[in-house]
Amino acid sequence: MKIAIVGATGEVGKMMISCLNDYSIDYEKLTLFASQKSAGQQIKFRKKTYTVQLLTDKSLQEKYDYILFSAGSSVSKQYAQDAVNAGSIVIDNSSAFRRIDTIPLIVPEINGTLLKDYQGIIANPNCSTIQMVLLLNIINKLYTIEKVVITTFQSVSGSGYTGISTLLNQRNGDKNIGKYPRIIDLNVIPQIGDFDDFGYCEEEVKMTNESRKILNIYDLDLTATTVRVPVLYCHSESIYIKLKKDVIINQIIDHFNQTDYIKYNPIYDCPIDVQDSNLSHVSRIRYAGSKNSITLWNVSNNVRLGAAANAVKILKMHYQINKS
Ligand SMILES: NC(=O)c1ccc[n+]([C@@H]2O[C@H](COP(=O)([O-])OP(=O)(O)OC[C@H]3O[C@@H](n4cnc5c(N)ncnc54)[C@H](OP(=O)(O)O)[C@@H]3O)[C@@H](O)[C@H]2O)c1
Repeated sequence: MKIAIVGATGEVGKMMISCLNDYSIDYEKLTLFASQKSAGQQIKFRKKTYTVQLLTDKSLQEKYDYILFSAGSSVSKQYAQDAVNAGSIVIDNSSAFRRIDTIPLIVPEINGTLLKDYQGIIANPNCSTIQMVLLLNIINKLYTIEKVVITTFQSVSGSGYTGISTLLNQRNGDKNIGKYPRIIDLNVIPQIGDFDDFGYCEEEVKMTNESRKILNIYDLDLTATTVRVPVLYCHSESIYIKLKKDVIINQIIDHFNQTDYIKYNPIYDCPIDVQDSNLSHVSRIRYAGSKNSITLWNVSNNVRLGAAANAVKILKMHYQINKS
């Protein structure tokens, strides 16, 4: 198998390389691309040293079995279709193609069967959405969801390496706002992305639209408040869910425990506890005033499950269900 990673020096790109090990992906050739800034950088992986290549118009004229894009929307829009035209399958981590009807938006455990016989661009969902829909999918199958209300607590790595440096620089006395609309150190900011005419910021709109598409429930009543917090890795979410039927909480926990992608903790998890995990961690499941509504606490590493791990799982599943 020939694999390329575009944006290999970023927070997600570096984790994609690491996830090739986590998910036992074998390849004959691995090519790493970045911008002028990091071209020439050396990355050691599986006892080999790879030199990061500058991405140019010619780079992706070569056919790869899979190209993982993780360099932002504008790079994906500029290069992904050319890569597909050259015969490569693109797994795109940006928001560039997620809302296009003909492009599958995949969480393998939920709608991975859409990958059967599919060639072209595959979209990887938003980080805060992936960890949540894995839970919602199971709960919906059991009790049918009527309404979801989420508040997120999102780490600075969600904005890439400049998000991390903004927080660390401010911690060292920098007074500039850096990557965010306000100072993030010792603060919380209830805005991720620009606001629309209805008062929702981009991350909130993504959570609603992407959840609807992945779960294939286009009238899903889901509203989010997304908040940036001064945490390095992992997004936390407080999720209220109203169901069509009364809920037995232990039944939900049993179903979560039967998966290999959700980990239930009878106490609770904090971001620091789960930053090395590729799972969606859930705790504090409790009734929300009535037997047909619950509230829970969900934490997951946004760079792992929310991006790199999901992308590599898409690659693995696509390969497995289409080989022969
Ligand atoms: N971080 C998350 O939790 C997360 C979660 C889900 C989705 N995403 C999405 O994943 C993408 C990458 O995020 P990130 O957090 O990894 O960002 P990042 O840390 O800022 O890394 C960006 C990467 O893109 C490369 N790049 C930038 N411009 C390029 C160009 N013109 N040509 C080639 N490479 C270029 C950078 O290379 P240089 O080193 O040369 O600058 C770097 O490797 C974004 O679309 C983001 O929205 C991120």
